[in-house]
Amino acid sequence: MLVCAINGSHRGSRGTTHRLLERMGAGVQEAGGTWELIQLAELHIEPCRACNQCQRSGSFQCIYEDKDQVRQVFERLAAADIVVYASPIYVLGLSSLLRRFMERFYSLAPIQGLRLTESGLFFHAVDRAICGKPFVSLLVCDNLEDLTVRNARDGFRILSRFLDAPQVGHLERRSAAAWTKALQGDDPAEKQRAEAILESFETAGRDLVTQGRIRPSTARAAGQPFVQVPALVRLARHLPFLRPRIAQEIQRRAGTSTMGPD
Ligand SMILES: Cc1cc2nc3c(=O)[nH]c(=O)nc-3n(C[C@H](O)[C@H](O)[C@H](O)COP(=O)(O)O)c2cc1C
Repeated sequence: MLVCAINGSHRGSRGTTHRLLERMGAGVQEAGGTWELIQLAELHIEPCRACNQCQRSGSFQCIYEDKDQVRQVFERLAAADIVVYASPIYVLGLSSLLRRFMERFYSLAPIQGLRLTESGLFFHAVDRAICGKPFVSLLVCDNLEDLTVRNARDGFRILSRFLDAPQVGHLERRSAAAWTKALQGDDPAEKQRAEAILESFETAGRDLVTQGRIRPSTARAAGQPFVQVPALVRLARHLPFLRPRIAQEIQRRAGTSTMGPD
């Protein structure tokens, strides 16, 4: 089984997304699978210009076909059994790098060619040999709120239906900065908690090879909150009239003010 991961982090192999992917890859390999990791940050990827030349020529070749490295990535996707799309959250969505890559799917099939997807959606033709592969989504962000990843998470779920690409797992790591700090810090209990999360990413890799999907229990362990939303903040959500006082209290405890002079 060939699992091909596409890292959409602008930090490439220096980032947190890479750290998680590395462990996932270790799990794939332990279970006897083959792991391939593509760092989009290291490749030359032109953005789609919406020139529609790919559609007009009838060849479904982008004007950048021989000028950048997207075709190479498409070939790796075509060869893979499972694809992992991994992205940090940037401004509540996917990184522009991953989007830039995915926008190039447009050049692969006739946009005029209408079809009904397996889940009954009205859509244009897609090149399923490339973008219809079973996939796993992986999202990484620093905020602890579930709402931060919701756009991107829903986006992948919906994309799966439009592309007829089975989603065989979804992984998240929120509070990534706090988690990384704990991993590198010298508090043994925190370090152990952070290590356990990393271990779940290895399990996720093994799951892919042994089960063809990531088990829900593995995804839950990988995505478990590392930093809990403070009780005071949860309270503020339910009691709007108390919010100004709670906000003051939170600032007092944090010892900083982000709201400027009142
Ligand atoms: C331009 C930019 C925008 C970001 N936007 C968000 C955001 O909306 N929410 C969030 O929680 N983190 C945000 N982050 C933080 C990243 O998601 C986080 O640092 C992540 O771990 C980066 O992954 P990487 O190290 O693999 O690049 C942003 C970072 C950058 C550089």
